[in-house]
Amino acid sequence: MIYEPKNLPVRLYGDEFLRKKLPELELNTPGLQEFIQDFIYTMYARDGVGLAANQVGSLYRMIVIDPDRENKWDKKNPIVMINPVIESRESEVVYEEGCISLPEIFADISRSKRITYSYTDLQGNRQTESAEGLKAVIIQHECDHLDGILFIDHLGTISRLKIMHKLKKLQARAVDGQNILEGFNL
Ligand code: NI
Repeated sequence: MIYEPKNLPVRLYGDEFLRKKLPELELNTPGLQEFIQDFIYTMYARDGVGLAANQVGSLYRMIVIDPDRENKWDKKNPIVMINPVIESRESEVVYEEGCISLPEIFADISRSKRITYSYTDLQGNRQTESAEGLKAVIIQHECDHLDGILFIDHLGTISRLKIMHKLKKLQARAVDGQNILEGFNL
């Protein structure tokens, strides 16, 4: 039987899941294979180039990225990384970043230009790879999520003040530590 993946509800700024530091994930966790399909499906449904599991209310230490995808008609090539670790960093680069959990907020963020990282792939093998530019930035952004860090946390006081009204508006949607985006629109 073919599994029909679901569009998982996304957690927005103000949701407690976004501030959680996720524990190591065991590959033999029951239900993990179905979750991974939902997870990938949700990244594309939200037109993202990356997603971390706590953004969809999961405690799995896992990200998915697709840095080669420049528009929605491009061939999909998702890379799932379980327990990713950034092993080394080099140089610096600034990109304008956004986040599915922070709709309509964009800011220039300084990150490492080149990284070496390791992760467990879907076959259970530990991989070590290097990336630079946009791919390196996406991996750093998503790995931050797994430690409860958001891209806006890297901003200085003045840049943060500029987006404060948008952050407060998002935060105001939260109820009892939950801020869930249902459907496609805010
Ligand atoms: Ni994000």
